[in-house]
Amino acid sequence: MKLLLQGGRVIDPSQNIDDSLDIMIVDGKIAAVGKDLAGRSLTDGTSALFDGQVIEARSKIVVPGLVDIHVHLRDPGFEYKETIASGSAAALAGGFTSIACMPNTKPINDNRAVTEYILSRAAECRLARVYPIAAVSRGSEGAAMAEYGDLANAGAVAFSDDGKAVTDSSLMLSAVEYAASFGRPVISHCEDTSLSAGTTINEGFTAAQTGLSGAPSIAEDIMVARDILIAEYTGKHIHIAHVSTAGAVRLIREAKSRGIKITAETAPHYFTLTDEALLDFDTDARVNPPLRSPIDVEAVQLGLRDGTIDAIASDHAPHGIIDKEVELEAAASGISGLETSLAISLRLVTEGILSLNQLIALMTWRPAQILNLPAGTIKTGAAADVTLIDINRLWQVDPATFYSRGKNTPFKGWNLTGKAVMTIVDGEIRWKE
Ligand code: DOR
Repeated sequence: MKLLLQGGRVIDPSQNIDDSLDIMIVDGKIAAVGKDLAGRSLTDGTSALFDGQVIEARSKIVVPGLVDIHVHLRDPGFEYKETIASGSAAALAGGFTSIACMPNTKPINDNRAVTEYILSRAAECRLARVYPIAAVSRGSEGAAMAEYGDLANAGAVAFSDDGKAVTDSSLMLSAVEYAASFGRPVISHCEDTSLSAGTTINEGFTAAQTGLSGAPSIAEDIMVARDILIAEYTGKHIHIAHVSTAGAVRLIREAKSRGIKITAETAPHYFTLTDEALLDFDTDARVNPPLRSPIDVEAVQLGLRDGTIDAIASDHAPHGIIDKEVELEAAASGISGLETSLAISLRLVTEGILSLNQLIALMTWRPAQILNLPAGTIKTGAAADVTLIDINRLWQVDPATFYSRGKNTPFKGWNLTGKAVMTIVDGEIRWKE
């Protein structure tokens, strides 16, 4: 099986490549990246010298398959919100070839059976690659540790109680030590619930205007500070999920400058929207951590620009109509993000905040490194996971057309530019427009 992607603008930050090149794929692997790999191409789409399928990529950006390290697939247990099949189809349509899924399913992914179920279901689906993240604590209840060795052997790539903070510092410290002994990071949902319990949105003007209760940004900052201290004390890797505050960005920047093993991600909504998106009580804009102030949005953007934040992850959190078509205080938190993540992120390039190369690094190589995934690169010999992007494509967000079962997006109706048009996994075209 041979495939030739011809003449696209190939951007691979893992190898400092940004050039008009061909990519030759043979038997699911990257065989070569270079100029004129097939010789002269013919007008009928074949080539004089190359005996496989030729894909004209001249007007496209060609990048390593995008990597999203923070996705909720809801399966097992909440299949009305999403399944492994619908979520990994949404991933492909968004340009993602590798996704890591959080353990807040039912049952929680705190044991080998659930991890193995996710992996076998994903293998049956043959869509995006799915990497399970297992729970830090049994039932994500924040008390007893899960069986890390067993879970790591079964295929868990990291540990997290995402959706809930690990408030017990002693548990967090042990978790980080044990996870590291299996070469895995702990992903921390940073929220001091003694400050945020019972709140619906961010503390600030919008909360005052709407009469809704607001969570202060320090509810996040305090836990980021604690986790930095734990990472420093143990010398082990902690990854901070969904950074949303200026304070968290500042703390992570300082920690990195002191060589502490901290990495961080943020999600597109945190560098695009403020809490004003909730002025009309749109439940699709309810998310945890909440949308913050313009100062926070700017700080998150600058954190991406200067490398403080290592990755963009969608925090894809699909919910059903019954979870969202209720009053704001009762609504579930979360945004269905896989199918808008790339185009929303490309706005940072249009606005001159990031270069296109920086953005692609934040969505390929750097998130892959955080979780040690064999992804995010088109080095010769790597698995042939490749995404073709039409950077000029104008489109409108219509959740009804999402592959995801979660139609909950505050970006509904937005006009965006840039879209994945072909997603290749293991050398197979698994999705195309
Ligand atoms: O808004 C959120 N939704 N934040 C989380 O941390 C969890 C997620 C979910 O599972 O719905």
